[in-house]
Order: sequence, then structure tokens, then C-alpha cells
Amino acid sequence: MTRSSDQSRSERIAVYPGTFDPLTNGHVDIILRGSKLFDRIIVAFLVNVEKTPLFPIAERLALARSVFREHEHVEIDQFDGLLVDYARRRGASAIVRGLRAISDFEYEMQMALMNRRLNPGVETVFMMPAEKFTYVSSRLVKEVFALGGEVAGLVPEAVEAALRDKPRGMA
Ligand code: PNS
Repeated sequence: MTRSSDQSRSERIAVYPGTFDPLTNGHVDIILRGSKLFDRIIVAFLVNVEKTPLFPIAERLALARSVFREHEHVEIDQFDGLLVDYARRRGASAIVRGLRAISDFEYEMQMALMNRRLNPGVETVFMMPAEKFTYVSSRLVKEVFALGGEVAGLVPEAVEAALRDKPRGMA
């Protein structure tokens, strides 16, 4: 066995799935923390045909790629179907999810246990963002922006610029 195939076999890969509409600094914080724990973290954007996102999937992916262009261990990708199937295809041993508050816990626990039932080989790892991001969500960012509020510091600069390009009422 060559050294390189040996290495790729032992590479620890995590998937960080979500809608990311839009990516917030809370997400960025989790991705950077995750990238220290894993050899590669794949930020996996759910292609959800039922929801009407503010940012089309192509724009969300492009924004994330620009934010992480200098982070070679962070990969940006999209998926549809079951998350555990995607994780298996990508050789991931872990699913990373952020936990901001107790209110996140119930939904996250349900998903983690369902995913474990579907594929016991993939472990869900919860990570806490920095305290300053515990109240930040994509939904609130969109609402505050739509109503004329300031979102600087809550989202990456590229996302803030992209928000400014949208008509305020849309967000
Ligand atoms: O950012 P979100 O909207 O909280 O992310 C939710 C996401 C994408 C992680 C979840 O909806 C998901 O994994 N969807 C893929 C379909 C699937 O596997 N469903 C069963 C999950 S238990």
C-alpha cells in the first residue's frame, strides 16, 4: 500500500450540512472550529426544491467559496436526498452541527438519532459557536436586513454585500 492511499484512508472527514440562506458568521465560526478537528470539513448545502430561498443555491455556493477560498481543508458542496447517504458517498465519519442554545437541542437530537438509526457508522458532533454568535440565525439576519437594520458583523462581508444587492423587501 502506498503512503498516499494509507493517508487518504485515515483522513478524517466531516460534513457540515445546512441550508445556509445566507451563511452567517455563526456558521463560519463552526466551520473554522470543525476544520481544526477534522482533516477536511465539507460544507454541504441542501438543495431544497420545496423552499424558496432568498439566495439561489448557485449564489450561496459561490459566496461560501469566496469566504473560504484560502482554507484548503474546507470544501463547499451541495447535496440532495438523505444526508447520511451523502456522508457515506463522501467517506465522512462525522456530521457537524452547531448548538447555540437549549432551544436548538430538541430538533438537533431528533435529527442526530434518526441519522444514527439510518447509518450507525456516522457520528453527529455538536459544536458551540463563540458566545457573540449564539443569537445569530439566517432567519433573523434576513428579517433585520429586510426591515432596514444593520447586519454588519453578523455575516461575512461578501454576504453583506450580496444582501445589499437585493431589494430590501425581498429578504
Ligand atoms: O440549516 P438547516 O435547515 O437547519 O439544515 C437542515 C438539514 C439540511 C441538516 C436537514 O434538513 C437535512 O439533513 N436534510 C437532508 C434530508 C435528510 O437526510 N433528512 C433526514 C434528517 S434526520
